[in-house]
Amino acid sequence: MTGIEDVSRSGKPAVVAHRGASEEMPEHTLGAYELALAGGADGLECDVRLTSDHELVCIHDRTIDRTSDGTGIVSEMSLAELRDLDFGSWHPSGKPASVLTLRELLTLTLDWRRPVRLFVETKHPVRYGSLVEQKLLGLLQEFGVASPPSADHSRAVVISFSSAGVWRIRRHAPMLPTILLGDTARVLGGSAATAVGATGIGPSIDTLRHYPDLVDRAAAAGRVTYCWTVDELVDVQLCADLGVRWLATNRPAKVRDWLVTVD
Ligand code: G3P
Ligand code: CA
Repeated sequence: MTGIEDVSRSGKPAVVAHRGASEEMPEHTLGAYELALAGGADGLECDVRLTSDHELVCIHDRTIDRTSDGTGIVSEMSLAELRDLDFGSWHPSGKPASVLTLRELLTLTLDWRRPVRLFVETKHPVRYGSLVEQKLLGLLQEFGVASPPSADHSRAVVISFSSAGVWRIRRHAPMLPTILLGDTARVLGGSAATAVGATGIGPSIDTLRHYPDLVDRAAAAGRVTYCWTVDELVDVQLCADLGVRWLATNRPAKVRDWLVTVD
């Protein structure tokens, strides 16, 4: 059985590729995720949104303007319309790329030659509200990963800044691990994570620098810590020192190398 211990190295944080290897390749593209996996990432992170025909696509922003050669609002466009656009050439690496669906990313993740975990972030507030979690759960069920034997053995983790979004997952798929993301220690150090049954908290690296005790407080409540976005050696060292469980980075291969050297 695949467990967290299978994908971590001697108690050090596991490396999650934030939007793929998104420093080297355009974020949320197949190439960015394949590069992250080839570089040894333990997990992959993606943001998801619903298209007008209710397909989950891996796009961070509300619009496609920054990351494609088109313009428009994701929720007002069909998957076919998105498929006609180039989501790669805007990036300095300069290669054309297609929009990536969550179905395609799940397939890549679950077919990879070693066990890898997928961290799916639902964005809120959005036009389709709770339909995002409904569609996400449907897809995870279809792939057979919505009811793991335990959170530790799950191939999928649902993460969100929205406590309502986390709760919807917890209520309908209680064995799936969930991370309540937060920009402030006030949110993550309080009772919010307990209220929605999150199995972990997700502070930014800036929040963690100011409130390092968040990790121990989460652990005392039985929760793990996922920290984002950790791209500098000094911050990787901090996460390792504090006992952060998952570290999300745009530079997965480099961070993996650094983790070999930190104590
Ligand atoms: O992994 C969490 C992190 O991605 C949250 O911020 O804006 O990059 O989605 P954002
Ligand atoms: Ca994200």
